[in-house]
Amino acid sequence: MILKNTDNDLFQVIQKELKRQQSHIELIASENFVSKAVLEADGSVLTNKYAEGYPGKRYYGGCQFVDEAENLAIDRIKKLFNVEYANVQPHSGSTANMGAYRAIIEAGDKVMGMALDQGGHLTHGHPLSFSGIDYNFYPYFVNKETELIDYDELEKQALEIKPKLIVAGASAYPRIIDFKRFKEICDKVGALFMVDMAHIAGLVAAKLHPNPCEYADIITSTTHKTLRGPRGGIILTNNEEIAKKVNRVIFPGIQGGPLMHIIAAKAAAFNEALTDEFVKYQQQVVKNAKVFSDKFLDLGYHVVSGGTDNHLLLLDVLSKAKITGKKAEKLLDKANITCNKNTIPYDTKKPFVTSGIRLGTPAMTTRGFKEEDFEEVALLVDMILSNPENELIFTEVKNRVKVLTDKYPLTY
Ligand SMILES: Cc1ncc(COP(=O)(O)O)c(C=O)c1O
Repeated sequence: MILKNTDNDLFQVIQKELKRQQSHIELIASENFVSKAVLEADGSVLTNKYAEGYPGKRYYGGCQFVDEAENLAIDRIKKLFNVEYANVQPHSGSTANMGAYRAIIEAGDKVMGMALDQGGHLTHGHPLSFSGIDYNFYPYFVNKETELIDYDELEKQALEIKPKLIVAGASAYPRIIDFKRFKEICDKVGALFMVDMAHIAGLVAAKLHPNPCEYADIITSTTHKTLRGPRGGIILTNNEEIAKKVNRVIFPGIQGGPLMHIIAAKAAAFNEALTDEFVKYQQQVVKNAKVFSDKFLDLGYHVVSGGTDNHLLLLDVLSKAKITGKKAEKLLDKANITCNKNTIPYDTKKPFVTSGIRLGTPAMTTRGFKEEDFEEVALLVDMILSNPENELIFTEVKNRVKVLTDKYPLTY
């Protein structure tokens, strides 16, 4: 690494982060480990190029090769999700959502999105997010007993509110989302339908979750979660008029020059996502999550909604271990297990404290973890949460974490 000689301070920081990633069990549901191919494209000379505009219609010369990179990304993502139009320029999932809203609704319009403390994302109407500032968001909820989206209640609410747009998609919902039912409700109340599939895009690509592109007017995603690409966003649609608006809204509406190295890395990731290996990987992600969740149920935990259909689960730590999500996150971190605190439906604790933690399988499945490894991780999590004061237990868990991380090394 050249950086070692030119900027040792920064080099050391990067080495420390690499070591952290190698030595910890990564359970943050929105994270993953990209391939070396994706990383290579991400760190390529395409970062040098200005390319405002779109392939064939740029405001700069010398764009013939970055045009090819962007066209590869577009063609591949269209194939992956069986969709007609794609914009691969959004710098992030949040920017993709801003672009999608601006393309199809006006400031002040009524929008329904999943309640943020029940799984929805900040960009689905948080008062401090542009979404909550620019639009008039109304939350919908999960059923208190089943902890599943209450579609009947959602329909009733939609009939009353008459929103211009309904948004489906979440950051912390462990079950299949019924896009068909959402679309029926949208049609009934004359609303547009948007899906933010950021969390589940990899599962959708592998056909392990219904494809929102069959139902929604507009679809957004990040590319760095289950999809296992570089950090970034995309917007998809089957509607030509919407596609044209999206392109104008992203550039020049919201962004300037696209990040061509990231777009190249997106193309590399989409190429990988089209392979059988990727489908097998996603199948393993789902199998691992199911076994992980079952093990917690065996250990006597309340797992939100009684389990999972996808890549994540929400563990109620307060009811079993009598500690908050905030404390659990800290304790697990001390034992080299990384996760995040998360509210559970109808949580009595504030979002910065919470009663739960969110656990995901995508990252460690990339490293090769199988069902038995996740059973072991569930035991380790329980050992920590049940013995928060016991240093001997911490030492034992750390040792067992090391056995697992050594068994499946992360090499870059
Ligand atoms: C459902 C959902 N949408 C959008 C985003 C925002 O993505 P980004 O962090 O890239 O802005 C996230 C991020 O966690 C998400 O979970």
